Formats: sequence, structure tokens, C-alpha cells
Amino acid sequence: MKQLKFLLTMVFSAVLTVFLVTACNSQAPDGTATSGSPTAGGSPGQTLIMATSADYPPYEFVDTSSGKEEIIGFDVDIAKYITEKLGYGLQINNMDFNGLIPALQAKRADFVMAGMTPTEERKKSVDFSEIYFEAKNTLVAKKGSNLTSFEAMAGKKLGVQLGSIQQEAAKTATEKVPTIQVVPLNRISEIIQELKAGRIDAALIEDTVASGFISANPDLEFNVLPNEGEAGSAIAFPKGSPLLAEFNPVLKDMIDSGKMNELVNKWFGDQRPGQATS
Ligand code: ARG
Repeated sequence: MKQLKFLLTMVFSAVLTVFLVTACNSQAPDGTATSGSPTAGGSPGQTLIMATSADYPPYEFVDTSSGKEEIIGFDVDIAKYITEKLGYGLQINNMDFNGLIPALQAKRADFVMAGMTPTEERKKSVDFSEIYFEAKNTLVAKKGSNLTSFEAMAGKKLGVQLGSIQQEAAKTATEKVPTIQVVPLNRISEIIQELKAGRIDAALIEDTVASGFISANPDLEFNVLPNEGEAGSAIAFPKGSPLLAEFNPVLKDMIDSGKMNELVNKWFGDQRPGQATS
């Protein structure tokens, strides 16, 4: 009897789980989510899904100060402004940086804003808006460690975000300094932790983000590297998305009208090394 009761409870909870999972994840037959579903874009009133990697203050990060978790930042303000202007709703999905382009390719998101640099390699898989912000690479290390160049990193461990242009830049640096050990990690916060724990010697991070982490961690410092190759942030869309042609003019308006500068001042303040381009 006891066994039967146990069996029934198991069967019941299994059925309930299946029911709950299907109820929460209503999927169209082609596998796309039906609520706020990413489409090829186009119909105002619809909710667009923005994918981001919210580990990148002040571009995007999880704010818990209100008691609940909310993704806020420079990119989020830009996304809100543009979608509002165009009459769309906005839903933000947080994931690892490395998963953002695959999410666009699988049409699981309508656009990506993640301080993402439009590189030639990425342009093979996604379309990019105009660049809305510039940045430079820096080497973040413990104060006084004197790691100011790739040459100084010989024989040392260099943390980078997996799938970022910093990972590429580190790889290129190993052509000149083959003894650099590149350590790719998923989240920027992990990289900072590893650095503080001494498991890596330096991290390659953009100035705009590095300066925030340095003010929060006085035991760290950063040195700006000469800009090589691609830089700056743009909005990414699935290839051929009609949203690109809708977003670009609003982005340009934001830059021309001073709205972009207002947001730059709000999020980057005086510590701001780069600026919006037009
Ligand atoms: N700009 C760099 C890139 O495009 C890094 C961006 C990282 N962004 C983030 N949200 N973690 O590769």
C-alpha cells in the first residue's frame, strides 16, 4: 500500500511537472516561443526580444537595489528609447556573451545589445547598426604589477571573455609573444574574481568597463593599450532583419539630437574615455 501511494505521488508529480513546463514554455510547432516571439520584425505594438550578456557595467548589468533583479545600463536605455519611439514593447533576455550571436541566428532574439563590436567575422553571421560608442582595450592587473603591454605578459596568464574581440586580440598577441597563456572565461565578473585571487595575472577588458571595476576594486589598475583593429559598439540583428532599417535612423537621431551624449554622461560620467560617433 505504501509502495502504491509512493508510486502514485511520483506519477502525479511527473504529470504536474510536464504540465507546468509546457504551460510556461508555450512553443509554436517550429520551436519558437509564442509569447513576445521574435519575428522578422515589422509590426509595431509587438514586443521585441533583446538578448544581452548583463555582466558588463555600465552597458548592461543586473541591478538588485530595488529588491528585485532588473537589467539596466547604457545599452538598455538606448534599447528602451528606440523601441518606444518605434512603438514596440521590449523584453530583455540575459545569457552568456558567447551565446548571443547563436541566439540571433536561431531567431531566439530580435536584436542584441551587449557592447558588441561589429567585426568582419561577425558580419558573416549577423547584420550591424551604425556604431554608437567607441572603446579601447586595457590590461587590468593588480596594482603595481607593471603589466602594461603584451610583452610584459610573457609567461603570464591573461583572462578574456569567451567569444569577445578581446579573446581574438589576445590570440593575435600570442603570435608576437607566444608564451602568453590565454584563459577564456564566460563572465566578466569571473575574470575579475580570478584576477583578485591571483589565478590569472591580467585581463583584457575595454576601458569603459575596466574603469568601473577599478573604482570598485582599489587593489586593481588598468593600462590602456594602443588601439589595434576593430572597436566600438553596435546593435546586432539576424541577417536580413527589417528592423535594421527601422533602428538606424532613430540611432542617428539620438546622436544628432544630443540624446546619446546625455546617456553617455548618465552612465559613464567623467570616467568616460571614448565618445559617441556620428
Ligand atoms: N566589445 C567586445 C566584443 O564585442 C566585448 C563585449 C562584451 N560584452 C558583454 N556584454 N560582456 O567582443
